[in-house]
Amino acid sequence: MALENIIIEHEKGIATIFINRPEKLNALNKATIQELHETLKLAEQNPEIKVIVITGSGEKAFVAGADISEFAHFSDEEGATLARKGQEILFNFIENLKTPVIAAINGFALGGGLELAMACHFRIASENAKMGLPETSLGVIPGYGGTQRLPQLVGKGRAMEMIMTAGMIDAQTAKAYGLVNHVVPQADLFATYNQLADKIMRNSPIAISKAIEAINANFKDGVNGFDVEIRTFGECFATDDFKEGTNAFLEKRKAEFKGQ
Ligand code: COA
Repeated sequence: MALENIIIEHEKGIATIFINRPEKLNALNKATIQELHETLKLAEQNPEIKVIVITGSGEKAFVAGADISEFAHFSDEEGATLARKGQEILFNFIENLKTPVIAAINGFALGGGLELAMACHFRIASENAKMGLPETSLGVIPGYGGTQRLPQLVGKGRAMEMIMTAGMIDAQTAKAYGLVNHVVPQADLFATYNQLADKIMRNSPIAISKAIEAINANFKDGVNGFDVEIRTFGECFATDDFKEGTNAFLEKRKAEFKGQ
């Protein structure tokens, strides 16, 4: 698939995906969502890619939301289909990816942009970042998982306030809320996510994918997260990575994980 709306760079185990529509503040149109889906699917299948980072091109925006021009004339049914399909192919898809995904929020992360960042496994932000779910100001509500993931991350009261006021919070407030883990000057964003990715890459890719599955189970209806933890914990014992990790510790050497 030819990529027109995103750029992917792959170096030393880290794939960085840039959403690249800077003239539209990287707004997520249908084509961009499809390209992200295809690219993430391929990245997950590539054993050389150990960490994925999603960020925005330019210095102004991560993603300023779903592309309003594409859905302004939609009917109720078309609206529901837009949300259902988007959740399935991008937002839930990212959350359940086996490869860790970090959002590097480099500017505005609004509406679908903040929802995209919240679907990633964790988030870091530059000092100039601004975040919010402004959908009620457009007469609609967040449809890409925002009403569910925002309260999970910041608590129900703060999520209610952010969604009802449609306001933006700055990066330091987002950090105080637990929405982002780190805030750094924009010039340091690249180095920061690379350092975090390097730390992740020292560990077993299989164990990391099992940890993602077990942590996500805590937020799934009708799923007992403790049972998922027991199962995935047990599955780790059948891997070469587990043998390597425990042997390396006992032999006082650095583990060389193969992800098998
Ligand atoms: N959908 C479609 N186009 C968007 C967009 C979106 N979500 N966000 C920004 N754009 C476009 C603007 O229409 C403009 O295009 P134009 O130059 O062809 O007119 C371009 O991106 C630049 O945006 P602009 O509004 O001129 O920049 P600004 O610096 O004045 O304001 C924002 C920045 C982020 C405050 C403002 O663009 C905004 O409020 N965007 C919409 C945010 C939103 O409601 N998102 C939720 C969608 S569900």
